[in-house]
Amino acid sequence: LPVPSVQAMVAATGGADVPPRYLRPAEAVAGDSEAHIPIIDYQRLLLELELDRHGEESARLHGACQDWGFFQLINHSVPDDVVEGMKASIQQFFQLPMETKKQFAMERGQLEGYGQLFVFSEDQKLDWADILYLYTQPHESRNTKLWPDQPANFRYSGAVKDVSDSLLATMAKNLGLKREAIADKCIRGVQSVRMNYYPPCAQAEKVVGLSPHSDAGLLTLVLQVNHVQGLQIKRNNRWLPVKPVPGAFIVNIGDMFEVFTNGRYKSIEHRAVVDPKEERLSVAAFHLPNIHAIISPLKEIAAHEDDGYKTLDHGSFMKLFYTTKLEGKSFLERLKL
Ligand code: SIN
Ligand code: FE2
Repeated sequence: LPVPSVQAMVAATGGADVPPRYLRPAEAVAGDSEAHIPIIDYQRLLLELELDRHGEESARLHGACQDWGFFQLINHSVPDDVVEGMKASIQQFFQLPMETKKQFAMERGQLEGYGQLFVFSEDQKLDWADILYLYTQPHESRNTKLWPDQPANFRYSGAVKDVSDSLLATMAKNLGLKREAIADKCIRGVQSVRMNYYPPCAQAEKVVGLSPHSDAGLLTLVLQVNHVQGLQIKRNNRWLPVKPVPGAFIVNIGDMFEVFTNGRYKSIEHRAVVDPKEERLSVAAFHLPNIHAIISPLKEIAAHEDDGYKTLDHGSFMKLFYTTKLEGKSFLERLKL
């Protein structure tokens, strides 16, 4: 069900007219006051991991995972030139002429490429954004025909995966697990990268750039590309904008992690709003177990508890995710027992 490029629509009309398919009630878009999500120092975490200690920073991470499901990761060790290379690459991509971008278009029934995801019906509300979505790990899953700027993307993909693996190791430790309990499921783990382009909208208060949802995987690392803010998280039933710390990754827990921990760490609903005047770009890197992993509460955690979630293999889990309307945590609700 292909839908038009929002960027092309704005370019053609000047963006003053917003088609009804994008318009939402104003109360569905309004945000509240800023969320000060925890800030975690990656270098300190690494040190504590090496010394195999339950240090202060690991404890802060545990608190962030339990209370917020979201945090900003500073001193993350991905070199500046790798981050800047990724930013430049994706900014250049969305500036390409439409004819060129179309060469990367998502094909019918495919998840990868340039276009939109989660479009199922003529009457659903659409998001005010275009995306480029790619599978980046393991290496053989890369469809390099769809990779516009391969060197920049390759370097970013590997560097961010390393950060995710170390975070998962600390999270395992924090949950009283052996590192392998999660790491073994992430050998040849899956990573995909979603590059978001949100054009400005003259009626920004009536459109949504990315509908409320929780992420499907274990851990997502989001890179804010330019200075325009837009991410909001749902907390105590209010939508709170997140102000990115320059140079930090915004990290969040996904549905699979909630299932693994039988609900000890929860995925958090979030969305993106758009700016009236300026475009916004972001890059979300999703980290998932390998394709053979079974997604169920880990016995090491919940041996004496009833499972709160159904057991699914990786493929079935993701198939269900991509065929369910993006609507808050409704997907995970379907897996609850
Ligand atoms: C998301 O990937 O859920 C939102 C990323 C963003 O645009 O901040
Ligand atoms: Fe997300």
